[in-house]
Amino acid sequence: MSAAPDRDAALRSGDGSEPQSLALPVLTSRGFAVVPSVVTGEPRSDLRSEAESLIERFESGHRSSDFWSFTSTRSGLEVLYRVHNLEQQDAPLAAALFASGPLHDLAAAILGRPAFARVAALIVKVPFHAAAVPWHRDRTDLPPGTAVNLSLFLDDSTADNGCLEFVPRSHLLADDADALEVSRQTPVVAVEAKAGDVAVHDVRVVHASRPNASGQPRRSIVMEFLPTRTEGA
Ligand code: NI
Repeated sequence: MSAAPDRDAALRSGDGSEPQSLALPVLTSRGFAVVPSVVTGEPRSDLRSEAESLIERFESGHRSSDFWSFTSTRSGLEVLYRVHNLEQQDAPLAAALFASGPLHDLAAAILGRPAFARVAALIVKVPFHAAAVPWHRDRTDLPPGTAVNLSLFLDDSTADNGCLEFVPRSHLLADDADALEVSRQTPVVAVEAKAGDVAVHDVRVVHASRPNASGQPRRSIVMEFLPTRTEGA
């Protein structure tokens, strides 16, 4: 891990630019960008409360194939890390966000054409227990610049509570590039973000996320966006 988490601070500051106009060239060249303050105020608080209700449902014993968890070898606890098919979980605010709204607008601005959300998930980095997500690419069956993943952070995402990490320009690598090898051979960038910010990444970029050894939760809503009428969707 050779890069400081705040290396991209200028990207997140806004600095007078339209966020989308800044994000597009950065995303194209690097494969990821952070757009500040996409969902703020009450809508952000309400989404966070809804996420907390889903997590409480799991902690109260709810289990389904959409609630992904692992058993911590250290503590023996069952640790929730993902709620898949989020829009189907009796979470109306997330379902509304999946149907239309600010993430669609952002994705369309970045992709340069109307876009739809194909999948949605709640990512949960439980305090003290969340594991790292290994280096991977989300998919490589589409050319660079075709599909993006948007991560809307419900909490501040820091180097301590499980922030995302990226290998710049790795979205341009061949389909069969080995993600772990790439991460070892190229400097990586850890990207912190504030609650309400959206991290955008090309689905092809090599990325990972850190474990959460802190007492602060890190929850995010992640959606994959494709241009409307994309084949392979
Ligand atoms: Ni991923």
